[in-house]
Order: sequence, then C-alpha cells, then structure tokens
Amino acid sequence: MAMARIREILQTGEPDQVITVKGWVRTKRESKGFTFVDINDGSAMAGLQVVLNADMDGYGTVVKDLTTGSSVEISGLLVESPGKGQRVELQGQSITVFGTAEGETYPLQKKRHSFEYLRTLGHLRARTNTLGAVFRVRNACAQAIHQFFQEQGFLWIHTPIITASDCEGAGEMFAVTNLDLAKPPQDPSGAIDYSQDFFGKPAYLTVSGQLEAEIMAMAFTNVYTFGPTFRAENSNTSRHLAEFWMVEPEMAFCDLVGNMDWAESFLKYIFKFVLEQCPEDMDFFNQRIDKSVLATADNIINNTFERITYTEAVKLLEQCDRPFEFPVEWGIDLQSEHERYLAEDLFKKPVIVTDYPTGIKAFYMRLNEGGETVAAMDVLAPKVGEIIGGSQREERLDVLERRITEAGLDPATYWWYLDLRRFGTVPHAGFGLGFERLVQFMTGMGNIRDVIPFPRTPDNIEF
Ligand code: 4AD
Ligand code: MG
Repeated sequence: MAMARIREILQTGEPDQVITVKGWVRTKRESKGFTFVDINDGSAMAGLQVVLNADMDGYGTVVKDLTTGSSVEISGLLVESPGKGQRVELQGQSITVFGTAEGETYPLQKKRHSFEYLRTLGHLRARTNTLGAVFRVRNACAQAIHQFFQEQGFLWIHTPIITASDCEGAGEMFAVTNLDLAKPPQDPSGAIDYSQDFFGKPAYLTVSGQLEAEIMAMAFTNVYTFGPTFRAENSNTSRHLAEFWMVEPEMAFCDLVGNMDWAESFLKYIFKFVLEQCPEDMDFFNQRIDKSVLATADNIINNTFERITYTEAVKLLEQCDRPFEFPVEWGIDLQSEHERYLAEDLFKKPVIVTDYPTGIKAFYMRLNEGGETVAAMDVLAPKVGEIIGGSQREERLDVLERRITEAGLDPATYWWYLDLRRFGTVPHAGFGLGFERLVQFMTGMGNIRDVIPFPRTPDNIEF
C-alpha cells in the first residue's frame, strides 16, 4: 500500500490500485447513498475527491466527523472518475480521523474571505487556495534562484544577520542588545556604555549582506546571498516589510552594463522556471487575482527590458501630462507613482533606470565622470515599482574614503571594506532583489503581507 502525495496521484496515479492519502478536508458534500469529500495535502491546488459509500463500516460517524478542516488518513481504491473535473477519484475504504475541526467554529468555512481577515488567521491561512498557491510559487522562485546561480558558477555564501555596520547608511537598523533596557550602564557623560554590551559595541540586524558579499566576491569572483534582511523604516505600505528576504549577487570584474545583463537574465530565468513548475497555481492567479499575470510573465520572458538613465527618466516624467502627487525635478528620489508610470503606463515592461544623482544614493556606488551621478541601477516593474536595486561599486580607495566621509559616516568603522580597495581591488558590481516583491510581481498579489508566511510590519508580530 503506497502512501503518496495528492499532486502525484492527480497527475500520474494509476487506476485500480489501493492507495493511502493523508490530508485535511476542504469540503464535504452528502448525497443519497454517498458522500464526496475533497482532501487537500498542500502539494497541489486541487484536492483528491474521495467517495464514501453509505454501506461502509461506521459510515454515519465518519461522515459526521469529516468536517471542513479535519485531518484524516484514507485508504481505498483509486478509480477513473466518472464525474467531470478530475481524472481519478478514491473509493474510500478505511478512514482514520486524526483530529476533527470543531464544526462551525473552524474559521475557514467554504466562502471567500478577505486577505485582511486572513491575516488575522496567520496560523490557518496557508490552508486556503490563494495562500497555498502563493507559498508554492514562493518555493519555486527560491528554487529557481539557487538553480540559476549554481548553473552559472556562483558560490552561495552566508552573510551575518547581526552586524555592526550600516550597509545602506540610512540609519534604519534595529538594535540588538542584551543590556537591561530599564537600567542600561552609562559612561561618565551619561550615554549608554555599549562597551558593556554583548559585542562590546552597538550591534544591529543587517539591512543588507552586500558589504560581506563584496569580501567574498574578492575571493570567489561570483557569489550570492539569499537571506533575511531587516529595516526599521516606518512605512506602512503594500510593498514594505520590516523583515524581508533579499537575494544579493556580487560579481567581480563586472561593470554596470554587465550588472544589468545579469539582472535581466536572472528575472527571465525565474519566470520561465515558475511557469513550468507551477502552471496550475499561475493559472489560478491569472483568473482570480490579476488578469494580467500570464501576459506579464510572457512579456518578461520574451521582451528585452527598457534601459534608460535617471536623467532621461526625469525628462519623460516632466513631459507626462498626468499630475503627480510628488512634483518631478532632477535630483528627487523617484517615488512609487513615478516608477509605476514608467514601467506600467509608458513602457509596459520592466525598466532599468541607471545613473542616479549622487546625493540620493548610497556611499558605495561608483562615482561617474563629473561626480553628479553614480553607477546605480534600479529595476522597476509594473505594479510593484522597484524590485531590484544595485550598482557598480566604488573600487577606488581615495574616492571611496571621500564618499564615506561625505555621507557623514566614519571611515574608521569601514576599515575592512576599505582594505578591499587596498589589496587587489577590481571593478565589481552587484544588486539586491527583494524576494517578496518578486513573488508579488509574479503572482499579482496586491499586498506584500500576503506573499510571506509571517509578515513583520509596524505593530504586527503575531504568529
Ligand atoms: O535598494 P536596496 O535598499 O539595495 C540594497 O540593499 C543593496 N545593498 C543591494 C545590493 O546592491 N546588493 O534593496 C534592494 C531591494 C529593493 O529593490 C526592494 O526590492 C527590496 O530590496 N526591499 C524591500 N522589500 C520589502 N520590504 C522592504 N522594506 C524593502 N526594502 C528594500
Ligand atoms: Mg533601492
């Protein structure tokens, strides 16, 4: 007697075999002489239809217990289904109910629930169709990412989660301490004495693994990180999380154009992989969540991305007759309304914007001729806006030292980062892909909180 996952059974299960499945009841429909039960085990969007014949042993009790949400093991004969909608179905013979789901109090009864409501059920929502599809697609995206880089000879490296350096220099870090916050030790001037803290100085959750990835790229040429990242930015939007996952490749001997080429082929690869791995889930998103999901995927795979400079982008935005909430002029940071206009309305595909003003970008980006702009690149996607941020890195010691100081940071704390420019420096580049923004873009899900199992946002840390 084989125990199989429902996805395999639905695809390749041979009729006339005795099999066992385990899962959770999604729906139950009683009719004269029979009960139909839909069992789902998370392996696929569709469940397996189980038919229980009224003359089976203990029929009455079993049918009473098999309410939506209850967990079961069912053995029986797999047969060709006479009904529409499924190739095979299971004639249930013996049934074990592991746990009932307390009848009407189980919150996920068969009806549409809003995503807001489902967020209050973080412990149960993964059992719904939509969230189930999201997390299978999320898994496939992760697999595609590793497969892409491994095929290309990149080394997967693990960068620290606790760090003393602020990579982005934006001061949006969560502090990590084991000092007693009620009475922290003080130095003679009355400030908190971090020399008595766990690490002997202030420590934080990382906002990016880039600086350490650069160290590793200077040894292995091409590397990538894929890990959790934390930002204490108080932005309550549908695209920001306080804890998100970021993929950061870093390539030695690579310039900005090479960086753009990597980013573009990387995104194309992921979309192709997911369409092949999760066709039912992607169809579901296209039908139920956003009618443009499949067209978008097709567009990513088959069209080249638009590439424009920041200066060109500003001109295009100034020419646009639509009023923006944030007025456009050279030097501003692009707002999400601007990013979306470019990607969604104007070019109708991803746009890579390069060479941003020096003043609005991080200290490590390579200074262009003249010093007004840096070799930055952002990949802007329809609907989500910025999905990737990256740059060619400043590899010249003197320029980097000056940039750190100008950014109001202390070069002494970046001594090891500067050392990389003292010992065998090379032109290099890299980028960061926001993993949840990718999953949002892929699935058409409107809110980033619904593409990560347990979202962390301001005032939200349940589950
Ligand atoms: O543009 P960012 O800040 O770039 C960096 O951190 C660089 N150190 C990356 C690198 O070059 N290695 O962040 C990169 C991406 C953004 O484009 C966005 O997709 C995502 O990370 N991101 C967020 N995603 C969810 N919630 C947030 N609060 C995010 N902040 C950034
Ligand atoms: Mg950015």
